[in-house]
Amino acid sequence: MLLKTSSILILVVSVLAHMELIEPCPRYSSKCATKPAPPPGETIDYNLNTPIGSNGNVLQPFCKHTTPWLQVTETWTAGQPATVQFAPGGATHSGGHCEFSLSYDGGKTYVVVHQELRYCFYTAAPNSGGVDSVRSYTFNLPSNLPGTDHAIFAWTWVNAVGNREFYNNCGDVAINGSAGSYTGKKVTIANYGAEYPVIPEFLGNYNTGVSYYTTNVTQITITGNGYNGSS
Ligand SMILES: *[C@@H]1O[C@H](CO)[C@@H](O)[C@H](O)[C@H]1NC(C)=O
Ligand SMILES: *[C@@H]1O[C@H](CO)[C@@H](O)[C@H](O)[C@H]1NC(C)=O
Repeated sequence: MLLKTSSILILVVSVLAHMELIEPCPRYSSKCATKPAPPPGETIDYNLNTPIGSNGNVLQPFCKHTTPWLQVTETWTAGQPATVQFAPGGATHSGGHCEFSLSYDGGKTYVVVHQELRYCFYTAAPNSGGVDSVRSYTFNLPSNLPGTDHAIFAWTWVNAVGNREFYNNCGDVAINGSAGSYTGKKVTIANYGAEYPVIPEFLGNYNTGVSYYTTNVTQITITGNGYNGSS
């Protein structure tokens, strides 16, 4: 009887979609508002909601797709609000740790510009009454973020409950700002092969793995040539 119940649960989990970025438009999205044509040789990806790492295995490269959109899909301005949105519904795996990051060097390094730790997609931790309703985050970009005509935006997520997975989608944005540099936290990668730490299931403790995001971290400096939104 126990076996039967758990196999039904597994079936239910596997048919639910996971989470999927829709803004900034992730590479080869079928769901984002702008829906650019994929670059030559690439096709629409209808599986953007699957993890790139699971139970110690690397399933896909970081970003899923390493060829950028032919053009950036939006321009953000240093020091101003930026909005990140996810497709409605989806399986939120009781929350977990999300980061929003930018790469100024074509994907070699990513600096974090915003964190939603512990209960990403929820209004509070689910075991404190949090509701699974958050699909949009608006935050201020650092005021000293340098401008660039192309940065890679990366959303990363370690889920609270379920198989130990690492989720990631990437888009392509411009940053309106002065030339300069910015020092911040390097993106946290976990549950993504032997090179990276494993963050276990939270089992109700929403501080699980938080040290990899707050204290046991690496600072990096990125530089940009400056961009004013038009040239
Ligand atoms: C910091 O993280 C690394 C893996 O990234 C781990 O090997 C090390 O044990 C951690 N250190 C502490 C103090 O938690
Ligand atoms: C770029 O930023 C400047 C200064 O904040 C602003 O006046 C301008 O409208 C921005 N341009 C674009 C295209 O966002």
